[in-house]
Amino acid sequence: MSVRPQVLIVGGAGQVGLELQRSFREFGEVTAVDREGVDLAVPDQVRELVRNVKPSVILNAAAYTAVDRAESETALAMAINCQAPRILAEEAERLGALLVHYSTDYIFDGSKLGPWTETDEPNPLNSYGASKLAGEQAIGQVGGKYLIFRTSWVYGPHGSNFLLTMLRLARQRDQISVVDDQNGSPTTSIELADATHRIVRGVMAGQFGATEDWAGLYHMTCSGSTTWCGFAQRIFARAGKLLDGKIPTVKPISSADYPTPAKRPHNSVLSNEKLQDRFAVQLQHWENALDTVIEELSQASLSR
Ligand SMILES: NC(=O)c1ccc[n+]([C@@H]2O[C@H](COP(=O)([O-])OP(=O)(O)OC[C@H]3O[C@@H](n4cnc5c(N)ncnc54)[C@H](OP(=O)(O)O)[C@@H]3O)[C@@H](O)[C@H]2O)c1
Repeated sequence: MSVRPQVLIVGGAGQVGLELQRSFREFGEVTAVDREGVDLAVPDQVRELVRNVKPSVILNAAAYTAVDRAESETALAMAINCQAPRILAEEAERLGALLVHYSTDYIFDGSKLGPWTETDEPNPLNSYGASKLAGEQAIGQVGGKYLIFRTSWVYGPHGSNFLLTMLRLARQRDQISVVDDQNGSPTTSIELADATHRIVRGVMAGQFGATEDWAGLYHMTCSGSTTWCGFAQRIFARAGKLLDGKIPTVKPISSADYPTPAKRPHNSVLSNEKLQDRFAVQLQHWENALDTVIEELSQASLSR
């Protein structure tokens, strides 16, 4: 009888964490912890958690993700996005476990015209991006069996995200102004979790060779790209039933018209070529992935 791997999901109540719980249910014995199970700002709690669970796979979906608030809570963002991942990497190495971690398109400054590759130079414009970049580097320094997936514009059926915000605003307003000069790839928590599952299953089965053949940093986003305004327009083109036909007008505005504490890159589209070459994994086009989430929300509202 084969032994099912122990899987520890940190940040289990977040957007990606919830979908990882679904994706990995059949794969192993899953322990998912949220903030009540571990405070990532307290290093001893992080160490103790891993030593208690003794996982062979750690999936870190937790992060300090409040991009604007991170400008005034820099130390806390750094503790959660850099120091905690470093400890997870150290503890994973002690156990010989695989650590999967997520990072962000916001480590780039947006100045490139085409999609960013893993070898492009990071230059974060904001504290959140800086803390996530420091986290990537900390894990890389520890080394061992790790995968870092840089992703972008994450949303899904649960949590706090752009899609759910647009749906809420549509019920309150006839017109919504949305930034139209930032380009990126909206990526669903569902696609991220399912792709992570396929890759982890392959890695654990030895399908991708020795650690040095696969460990490292990869971009992982839905394919295609748009602006936040284009994303909003597509949401409203598809969400008619969910909104009982109350579709607002979307007004394109520039970033300058919508000042925020944290600066954001104008182009953060990521190339997924390395992910496809190494693991033969490709996430859906963002428009199709959006349809899946809207369908799930529609089913949920029907069953209410
Ligand atoms: N969201 C995006 O647009 C985006 C874009 C690019 C990359 N990413 C990356 O993708 C990953 C998953 O993001 P997500 O969108 O799923 O994030 P999320 O929904 O904000 O979930 C993050 C989780 O981390 C938990 N957390 C925060 N501080 C904690 C602490 N001190 N101790 C324990 N848990 C803590 C949060 O708990 P609480 O709910 O209790 O705060 C939350 O459950 C992250 O690495 C993020 O940086 C996200």
